[in-house]
Amino acid sequence: MKLPISDRLLACAAFVVPGDRVADIGCDHGYLSIHLLTNGIAQSCIAADIHEQPLLSAVRNAEKYGVRDKMEFYLSDGVRSIPRDFSCMVCAGMGADTMVSILEAAPWLRSGKYRLILQCQSKTPMLRHYLSHHGWRITEESVLRDGRFLYTVMEVYYQPDHPRLTEAECHFPPALLENPSKEVPAYYKWVVGGLKIAAAHNGEKQPILAALEALAQTQELSWLGQ
Ligand SMILES: C[S@@+](CC[C@H](N)C(=O)[O-])C[C@H]1O[C@@H](n2cnc3c(N)ncnc32)[C@H](O)[C@@H]1O
Repeated sequence: MKLPISDRLLACAAFVVPGDRVADIGCDHGYLSIHLLTNGIAQSCIAADIHEQPLLSAVRNAEKYGVRDKMEFYLSDGVRSIPRDFSCMVCAGMGADTMVSILEAAPWLRSGKYRLILQCQSKTPMLRHYLSHHGWRITEESVLRDGRFLYTVMEVYYQPDHPRLTEAECHFPPALLENPSKEVPAYYKWVVGGLKIAAAHNGEKQPILAALEALAQTQELSWLGQ
């Protein structure tokens, strides 16, 4: 029985390190945890959701795919009501506002023990800005296409001594250029296209747009604009 997991969630799973104890916050159907357990990637998975119906569907799916005994289920707003003995927190398919409120409510996540894997659905620059200004460092970020949409997934560590991202970097972070996937130029064009529209109405966006356009004018990064 094939698990109907999306390429977007598979991209999140790719950041999980074998042996991780994963907390999947906003688990919904539970497919991410089920994939990680049936493929022997995670050591254990906590599946948590703020709503009962999604959590019940995660329990049903875990039974269906034979991993019910390896998972723990919690009705929880963010990480408020879950045990803290995990190594890696995944938040996927949520907007930046929700992710920020989850992080704000749990200062203990900043102990240095936790790695975050974040796949943000909306206001991603705002999430990067929040992370960067609150001691979190985006160490890796990948872009993928799933259907018609481009998504990014970030790996984040608490490293308060790391320099903050500039506003331009919050829109197009340096981490995307470390191991660039084939969708990075498409993402760059999408970001610049959005900024052009925004800059026509909001002068504050103009320097961000100019900084990003200058990137693709350098010889080293000219491939971004192609
Ligand atoms: C769009 S679904 C994404 C499900 C799955 N993570 C994915 O990416 O396919 C978002 C899920 O997050 C849950 N959620 C929203 N806010 C939450 C919060 N503060 N804490 C825990 N779960 C939350 C919702 O109930 C919903 O099941």
